[in-house]
Amino acid sequence: MNGKNILLGVTGGIAAYKCAPLIREFVKRGAEVKVVMTPLAKQFITPLTLATLSKNPILVDFFNPENGEWNSHVSLGMWADAYLIAPATANSIGKMANGVADNLLLTSYLSAKCPVFLAPAMDLDMYKHPAVQKNLETLRSFGNHIIEPGTGFLASGLEGKGRMAEPADIVKAIEEFFSAEQDLKGRRVMITAGPTHEKIDPVRFIGNYSSGKMGYALAEECARRGAMVRLISGPVSVKAQHSSIEVISVESAQQMYDAAMEETKTADIQILCAAVADYRPESMADEKIKREKTGEMTIRLVPNPDIAASLGKVKREGQISVGFALETNDEETNARGKCERKNLDFIVMNSLKDEGAGFRHDTNKITIFDADGSKIEYGLKQKIEVAKDIVDHIVSIIKK
Ligand code: C5P
Repeated sequence: MNGKNILLGVTGGIAAYKCAPLIREFVKRGAEVKVVMTPLAKQFITPLTLATLSKNPILVDFFNPENGEWNSHVSLGMWADAYLIAPATANSIGKMANGVADNLLLTSYLSAKCPVFLAPAMDLDMYKHPAVQKNLETLRSFGNHIIEPGTGFLASGLEGKGRMAEPADIVKAIEEFFSAEQDLKGRRVMITAGPTHEKIDPVRFIGNYSSGKMGYALAEECARRGAMVRLISGPVSVKAQHSSIEVISVESAQQMYDAAMEETKTADIQILCAAVADYRPESMADEKIKREKTGEMTIRLVPNPDIAASLGKVKREGQISVGFALETNDEETNARGKCERKNLDFIVMNSLKDEGAGFRHDTNKITIFDADGSKIEYGLKQKIEVAKDIVDHIVSIIKK
């Protein structure tokens, strides 16, 4: 934590009282802390307390009404190495998930280029509500880190899940994030992610349900561990956070292929996570195709290049290639076959038979099949945790 700049966003919940020990923990570990509060948060803990502990003035308003001094959310966002919102109330979570920007804490969120952590705190029924859960899922899909609330006694007198994580645990989560072993330092990683869209006419395409979440989680994990990442991404709504990730946006399999064939020239590691369309329409209509009054319509499809297999053909000595296989049947045989055909070091298999695995979920359950024949099975985990397991496996190959 030494020398790290922590921007602490305090929203209006009773758990705001825990911000005093939270700030002390950060300062004790050598971090610089600046605090931005929502107007309501000031009712729960005084700015004087937090200013004294953080040794910095508290920011609440967009500008100082006395002298007109502007509190720049942009420079706050640039200053911070991490932005922690603790406690994060249901209200602020909802606003963050939807891009509402009606206070300095929220504009800072939208401007922040650094990793964002949230420690939700609310009553158990609010926490369980599908609206809150959906908003948290949205924030996760933006790459934000949710520090799960604990279960226990709540200010309402009820008992359940919703207590803000303890200050020591929050600090630990952020410390762990920063202290990640730099075991990919200096390595160049290319990742393909998301679906491809194969145009039928100017307004229609053939696509698939891939959300890109797994590929983006891998990109964040590699970047966090010191790699320079080129993320070749199909159309997705997730956003890359880390400054060492360069996103190359593509739409079709052919564009993804072109970008991958270029990037492979300098990549040390390539992770092929994209759900690439195997076929595309033979030609794209220049005008929107009109509905015929009678009869059927046929679209002729031609094969797309297999990016992983093409990369396998030009793979260099020492270059590591990782593929994915989403299977519905004969999982092991199919996955092992792809691993060999595409000249991969290992293949990550997930089965549609496993609940919570595969497309669109925040979780995944994987099995790794190595080119040398070994097999490792993992439990159902958050995609961020799955990314860690995959990167650990890559590092174990590098170290061999
Ligand atoms: O589609 P299939 O199951 O063969 O995909 C297995 C692996 O090959 C995945 O890693 C996927 O990203 C990659 N792939 C590719 N180009 C394709 C099809 C698949 O890179 N055209």
